[in-house]
Amino acid sequence: MTRIAVIPGDGVGPEVVAESQKVLRAIDAADPAVTFEFDHFDWGTERYLRIGEMMPADALDILRGYDAILFGAVGSPVVKDHVTLRQLLLKIRFGFDYYVNLRPVKLLPGVPCPLKGARPEDVDMVFVREGTEGEYAGIGDRIYPGSDREVALQTAVFSRFGTERVIRWAFELAKREGRSVTSVSKGNALNYSAVLWDEVFDEVAAQYPTVSKESLLVDAAAMFMVMEPQRFGVVVASNLFADILTDLGAALMGGMGLAPSANLNPERVFPSMFEPIHGSAPDIAGQGRANPTGSIWSVALMLEHLGMGGWAKAVHAAIAATLADGKAFTPDLGGTVSTAEIGDAIAAALAAGDCAAGVSTATAAKEGGR
Ligand code: NAD
Ligand code: IPM
Ligand code: MN
Repeated sequence: MTRIAVIPGDGVGPEVVAESQKVLRAIDAADPAVTFEFDHFDWGTERYLRIGEMMPADALDILRGYDAILFGAVGSPVVKDHVTLRQLLLKIRFGFDYYVNLRPVKLLPGVPCPLKGARPEDVDMVFVREGTEGEYAGIGDRIYPGSDREVALQTAVFSRFGTERVIRWAFELAKREGRSVTSVSKGNALNYSAVLWDEVFDEVAAQYPTVSKESLLVDAAAMFMVMEPQRFGVVVASNLFADILTDLGAALMGGMGLAPSANLNPERVFPSMFEPIHGSAPDIAGQGRANPTGSIWSVALMLEHLGMGGWAKAVHAAIAATLADGKAFTPDLGGTVSTAEIGDAIAAALAAGDCAAGVSTATAAKEGGR
């Protein structure tokens, strides 16, 4: 039995997570060897408004016992984002040492891409985003608040330990999958943190002579993602740089609703957490317009992490099949199909066995759900 903690959160979070669960239930029904058990946690802004906390003080102890966490999105126009996100999402990411935030950026056949002439094989990269330090360390202060002398300090933290482990993980991934590694930093301006990052990158790269590597400044990386996306394979970057570039990546995939992510604790001391990269999308929440694909794709990453590589591939194939002919498009892709209809279509493709044919649930296949 696989126990999954579900945190739907705010806005469209519950809408997309419901479709991901639909997909997991379809797998449960189709495969006698697989049983998923879900526990729901109503953590989020409504709870904050009710009792003053986003999640209970012992939330991490509660989550620790699960095999994985399925997360929707958090954030609401009525409470400041730094309160809601720091008290929930970032607390889990830091507390469970998710130093790898894996974010595939892959254009599927049939999905409209804003880049003129881009083919699916041109947009196929995977970001390895550092998730436990960097610009998100949350260290700083504000002094003389409200006065003309007000000062805000926000200290980025780049440790050799933290930098090395994420870069090494990226190289291991690239070696397994026969891809290149691109490091993204900003050593010309960030003369301490990014210089350490670049030095560590060169040191680790030297240990992988068979993997081709490149270092880009983040500004140039943004440009190349648009002008020459085929340049990228595995991309490793700090918390903030990869946050920004993966929203650009989501756009290259066809939109925010499509992009998945996996917060991984590679040592498996803590359960890993899977979420779309988009936010709570308050502008479309409650209308059945959200695209659940990013969340469902995150389920594929979850299945891969849980050792169900066959099902991971099947979910990926079901997503690709559902989107291929342009009929099952939510409004973000120019269609009129609802959130639930996409979930139904992907679950039905799985249940029909079309996508699962020939895959074994027992072994984690290369590339799994990516
Ligand atoms: P957002 O990702 O929520 O929305 C950006 C745009 O993308 C909006 O136009 C939205 O409608 C669209 N979009 C997002 N998800 C979509 C989906 N599944 N289908 C179709 N369209 C979709 O980003 P934002 O507007 O900058 O932030 C909104 C709130 O979400 C803020 O409170 C922010 O802090 C929070 N946020 C949370 C997370 C998270 O929980 N992981 C991530 C990003 C932003
Ligand atoms: C993401 C989000 C979060 C981040 C926010 C909500 C703190 O944008 O998951 O990409 O920046 O990590
Ligand atoms: Mn983001």
